[in-house]
Amino acid sequence: MNHGVTIAGTGSYVPEKILTNEDLSKLVETSDEWIVTRTGIKERHIAAEGESTSHLGTKAAQKALEQSGLEASDIELIIVATITPDTLTPATACYVQQQLGAERAVAFDISAACSGFLYAMKIAKRMIESGAFANALIIGAEKLSAFVNWKDRTTCVLFGDGAGAAVLRASREGEGRILATDIGTDGQQTHLLNIPGGGSACPITLDNAGEGLATLAMLGKEVFKHAVTRMKNSANTVIERAGLSPEDITLVIPHQANLRIIDAIASRLAVPNERVFVNLHKYGNTSAAAIAIALDEANREGKIKRGENIVMVAFGAGLTWAAAAIEW
Ligand code: UT7
Repeated sequence: MNHGVTIAGTGSYVPEKILTNEDLSKLVETSDEWIVTRTGIKERHIAAEGESTSHLGTKAAQKALEQSGLEASDIELIIVATITPDTLTPATACYVQQQLGAERAVAFDISAACSGFLYAMKIAKRMIESGAFANALIIGAEKLSAFVNWKDRTTCVLFGDGAGAAVLRASREGEGRILATDIGTDGQQTHLLNIPGGGSACPITLDNAGEGLATLAMLGKEVFKHAVTRMKNSANTVIERAGLSPEDITLVIPHQANLRIIDAIASRLAVPNERVFVNLHKYGNTSAAAIAIALDEANREGKIKRGENIVMVAFGAGLTWAAAAIEW
């Protein structure tokens, strides 16, 4: 009998090196006080030289596999959500497949920025429900440090590197399941947050190589406004689709971009702060990895128990947004 799709295991990994606000104040004109007050971020992790997005994703995936009881060779589908792929082609998921030894798995990437992990969750859920695949490994992984303009104080203080993963499979009697998902896109707002160079629209050439075009550019204030509205609406959509009300939600896991955005969403959803998961002080904004890392930490710290309902909600470049309601 089909009981839906469950999360059988989670995992996460962040690189060893920590970059504090204090460290950043030596690179650009900023201060711990500004960064903490405006964002809530205290430090972020930075990948080592030679450590790429697939390496981070693979380490997170190994932990998720271990918890799920499945072997890499059992996995039929790998989806990596990232905006910082190892290479433009092949997909980062192909490198992950190779590093895991998951030779049976079909592997591809999706690019939906900070919403990517929840986009991947929706795609994998549908694939498993349709019977096309028995299970899926979904990964949010980013090495944003490779695409940050380290001279731009308005963006370089915000981002960090890391990865999170989850193993999805058909739910068995008595297990939890993904209750509802929502994804959306507003392509009118591509200019608000992007990496303008390095793609076919603006290749990096000898002439423009010094302009920092292959780095993140953002109109922060505009993004902030959209983020609050879209995430509130998307979270409400999945709560309603799941037949729940806000009081039924034990934990909300929002995208970790800015503590002020998180607080604004919590108050609009009427969920008290103690039921909102926050870890951005440790990692900064890790885009597609943020929700995935947070889910794993909440899981391993025992903040979510069998039978409880959680909501994850994200927002990012595109603009994109996504939410999922899950019975754990
Ligand atoms: O993950 C994808 C989604 N991304 C987001 O959700 C990000 C959304 N946006 C934000 O989180 C916020 O807009 C930021 C944190 C990016 C910026 O905060 P803000 O309160 O909107 O600040 P602001 O951009 O209006 O800048 C205020 C002042 C400016 O100076 P003036 O013009 O008032 O003199 C900036 O130049 O702060 C200055 N500033 C800084 N000062 C010290 C900007 N960055 C810094 C910095 N250190 N790092």
